Amino acid sequence: MLKNKKLVDFIKSLKFRLMVLFVVIAIIPCHILRVGITQSYESRAVSIRESEILSQAKILSNKIAKSDYISGKDNPDVESQISTLTTLYDGRVIVVDDNYKIIRDTYNLDERKTIISGQVVKTFAGDVMTNYDSRNHYIELTIPVIDVEDDNRNVQGVMLVSVSTDNIVLNKTYLSQIGLIIEMIVGILFAFVGVLVAMRIVRPMKKLVKGIESVGSGFEDKVEAVDNYTETVSICNEINKVLDKYKILDDSRQEFVSNVSHELKTPLTSMKVLADSITSMPDAPLEMYKEFMGDIAGEIERETKIINDLLSLVKMDKSEGSLNITTINMNELLEQILKRLQPIADKQNVEVVLESFRPVTAEVDEVKITLAITNLVENAIKYNGNEEGGWVHVSLNSDHQYFYLKVEDNGIGIPEESLEHIYERFYRVDKSHSREIGGTGLGLAITRNSILMHRGAIMVHSILNEGTTFDVRIPLNYIKA
Ligand SMILES: Nc1ncnc2c1ncn2[C@@H]1O[C@H](COP(=O)(O)OP(=O)(O)OP(=O)(O)O)[C@@H](O)[C@H]1O
Ligand SMILES: [Mg+2]
Repeated sequence: MLKNKKLVDFIKSLKFRLMVLFVVIAIIPCHILRVGITQSYESRAVSIRESEILSQAKILSNKIAKSDYISGKDNPDVESQISTLTTLYDGRVIVVDDNYKIIRDTYNLDERKTIISGQVVKTFAGDVMTNYDSRNHYIELTIPVIDVEDDNRNVQGVMLVSVSTDNIVLNKTYLSQIGLIIEMIVGILFAFVGVLVAMRIVRPMKKLVKGIESVGSGFEDKVEAVDNYTETVSICNEINKVLDKYKILDDSRQEFVSNVSHELKTPLTSMKVLADSITSMPDAPLEMYKEFMGDIAGEIERETKIINDLLSLVKMDKSEGSLNITTINMNELLEQILKRLQPIADKQNVEVVLESFRPVTAEVDEVKITLAITNLVENAIKYNGNEEGGWVHVSLNSDHQYFYLKVEDNGIGIPEESLEHIYERFYRVDKSHSREIGGTGLGLAITRNSILMHRGAIMVHSILNEGTTFDVRIPLNYIKA
């Protein structure tokens, strides 16, 4: 059962919309066809009826002209033809003499009355007039009474014939009703097709949502491609890729938390052991107290460094707005950093050389860039381990766009498989060795973050037991996002 209410509503509304769309698409042409057919039937039937009546009326008018019917003489032949015309077409015939007086009306309503209408006057001029009154359903025809064999073609009178078109209208209504029934059947069929199409469209979506709903709250499960629609399978695959990324992120978050707790606990455990052992010895000499207290102070210092490093990282993870950009003389800054690290270098018997190719001033955050450079140089000194003459080369160069910093050493090097991990938080190549030296594995994470915040780049090149080179490139002018 589908639980997603929005999707259920969407499917319902899609079904309804497609149903309406299909009905409209089907009904409109059907309707136009129905109206067109009935109208063309009507006009065709009327024009056939008109020409029939006209030919009958012409024969009759000729007969009237030839006889003395207009002057009042009875003519059974003419009478019988008039009555045939009226009964056959359910019509009315009026004969008017040249004084505009009605001498014969088959309805017997207007005999002996005078009729002077525009139509009659025009007909006396020789014109034949026809008119179809679609509202009252009759055709009206006015023709002059002329003897066609008479050379003068005198108009002796006018004949008005009107016939009903009720049966034409009846047929038209019948046709229209049949058309309407077909229209309705087609409409229902298309509504059905619309629903089928909507169901076909939403079927992959339903399957997809089912698949997504089957995923639990964690990132462990995968969205199963329930059906073999190509689209749903590829969407499922994409969702699974995102889930995989989240899983990696979640794992690294958990690992980070456990690393942090472990790193913070280690100095505390050492302090506890030191404190416990000194208090368990009531007669311990003062020297021993001093030594233990010195060790405890060392552990406190280590704890403080870890916390400070973590704080720096957290600050850098925040938006770039936290950068405090000023214009800095990089040559001077490097000299200061190296001076500060000189005691460590002396202790390790490592020679540190600075080579400045040109004066460089750059727009940087002094504190963050100092953290980055200090760690690079400190690593080069710390992981030197070169008994006979260790050295660290630091060089500074620039072009019109960037300044370039190179930190090179002839130390222990980094194994190839570790190169891709060295920027990870808490990653150390040789855990035991690094611990001796006192690293927590946060330094390069801080360095990389700081460089990226300055829109720079860092690259490492290292050969085991030969040495390591870090290349840094940073824009001279700070580029805002
Ligand atoms: N120049 C180098 N030569 C050899 N190994 C290096 C060098 N720089 C870094 N590494 C290796 O990379 C690891 C990560 O370095 P990073 O600076 O992040 O941590 P750390 O120096 O151990 O601790 P921290 O800098 O937080 O005090 C180090 O533990 C070391 O194994
Ligand atoms: Mg370091």
